[in-house]
Amino acid sequence: MNEYILVCVAWPYANADIHQGNVTGSYLPADIYARFHRLRGNHVLMVSGSDSHGTPVTVKAEEMGKSVPEVFDYYHGRFLSLFQKMGLAYDLFTHTDTENHFQVSQDMFLSLLDNEYLYRKVTKQMYSPSSNKFLPDRYVEGTCPNCGYQRARGDQCDNCNTLFESAAELINPRSKTDDSALELRDTEHFFIDLPAIAEDGLQAWLHDGKGYWRPQVINFARNFVDQGLIGRAVTRDMDWGIPVPVDGYGDKVLYVWFEAVIGYLSAAIEWAKNNGTPDAWRQWWQNPDARTVYFIGKDNIPFHSVFWPAQLMGSKGLYSDDRSQPLNLPYDVPANEFMNMEGRKISGSMNWGVWMLDALERHDPDPLRYYLTAVMPETRDSDWSWQGYVERNNSELVGNWGNLVNRVLNMTKRYFKGEVPNPGELTAKDQALLDTIDAAFDSVAQLYDACKFRAVVQENLRLSSLVNQYLEETSPWTTAKTDMQATARSLYTALQAINGLKVLWAPILPHTSQQLHELLGEAGTLFGQQKVETYQESTRSHVGLTYDGTSAVGIWLRGEVPVGRQLPKPKPLFKKLEPSVADEELARLGPKPE
Ligand code: MF3
Ligand code: ZN
Repeated sequence: MNEYILVCVAWPYANADIHQGNVTGSYLPADIYARFHRLRGNHVLMVSGSDSHGTPVTVKAEEMGKSVPEVFDYYHGRFLSLFQKMGLAYDLFTHTDTENHFQVSQDMFLSLLDNEYLYRKVTKQMYSPSSNKFLPDRYVEGTCPNCGYQRARGDQCDNCNTLFESAAELINPRSKTDDSALELRDTEHFFIDLPAIAEDGLQAWLHDGKGYWRPQVINFARNFVDQGLIGRAVTRDMDWGIPVPVDGYGDKVLYVWFEAVIGYLSAAIEWAKNNGTPDAWRQWWQNPDARTVYFIGKDNIPFHSVFWPAQLMGSKGLYSDDRSQPLNLPYDVPANEFMNMEGRKISGSMNWGVWMLDALERHDPDPLRYYLTAVMPETRDSDWSWQGYVERNNSELVGNWGNLVNRVLNMTKRYFKGEVPNPGELTAKDQALLDTIDAAFDSVAQLYDACKFRAVVQENLRLSSLVNQYLEETSPWTTAKTDMQATARSLYTALQAINGLKVLWAPILPHTSQQLHELLGEAGTLFGQQKVETYQESTRSHVGLTYDGTSAVGIWLRGEVPVGRQLPKPKPLFKKLEPSVADEELARLGPKPE
């Protein structure tokens, strides 16, 4: 019975390079989870894209003195390269500036309107007479009413950290762009009626089951809703974004957070269209047995555990004949905490972080993936240290798992000319080892499915230690002098064991598991292929990253490496790193922040 699993991954703003905190926070856990379910033979659809809209992108364009589309193309292109190099295998990584996404976002908006979960309200907003438009709060500067700092932003004072509800709280507000004086004017916006949606089912849904949700996520969501929600504006006075599909609102756009989350749906629809199976997305969004899992960082919890479910509930009937039927609500939101760097917060402006595309110039993807999984911030904030990276690479990847593989392959070459030896009859000890590996296909599967990837690392290391210990005990290099049959049994058994471990590691270490797959003489690939494709819509074309997953699915078991097979020449999977690597990497960073 194959399941439908939708792997939803946070959409990065196309305004900055991706660092290790982003990767370990959401992209890597999503990829591990997706690969695991692909190996199990489930129908996985993993989607995301670049978040094109909102002030984060427009502000960056101004800083760089470039147009918004130029900035967008630059970062989006770098995301595609990074994901290919790291092996983050999205079925579709698209972006929000597509005709398809505009359409789906407007459809959801209109469905909410139709269901009477949107209302109009006049609010006051900063208006710039000099440029004839309303300004987003990020574009407003003024004197902080709390500390008197003269360059406080419309949303926050960077001097005393006060957050403002509205830029109207600033004294003497001015435009950040041209320093001209601003005035408050009336503007009408659409609000989503969160109290009504809470009452019509959102609150009950949050309190129904969810025992398997991470406590920090479900507790936050319940408290937030139980305290009483208020309506939130879902439109903005801006020109970069998705037009509000209502007459008279031509100069307003959908709020970026309202439409970015709709990307999970629109990307599934785009994927289905691109594949020539335009209805295929329904298997993940309308089939009640499908599971939709959202991989995000903790700063995104409110949007994914409360607001997005509210949008889904409020748009019941969307793309369905049944007016009372919402699209599938999140099955789980396994949000991660944050990762720091050498004990300090990661910071782009301070150059304090590991810029992943740059790091991949000097490091292989699997050691990076390994360390990011071993210290993944699953339950609390964690820390990247370059020394930790070097140490764990050397002691665990090279010293434990890599060493096991090397010993077994090299001894097979030395004693049997690289041919898988005939073991004769296995002893109870041999069989017990293989039984332990086989049992791990259940226990490790449970850990992967529960997104406990740090525990997977520990369990897999324990298993490879067991195989190393088995080799010590059976000592095939000693028996080679007296009892070749015993050596054959031991190496045959160890070969089968590493063939199993190869699969158990594959979601975390896809590249080196593939290498080992080949070193064990297996044909074919454990996973599909990623590639960049260009798509043509009626008015524009865009590039996305896709995945061809048809080649191998459903190999979550220990296959048999057959007796008599000639294995290729052994090669080490991992490289030992000198301690100086950590110093060199540290020297590339800015000065350590306070
Ligand atoms: N671009 C936003 C961020 O980076 C949103 C991410 S997830 C989304 O925080 F689905 F909501 F877009
Ligand atoms: Zn202040």
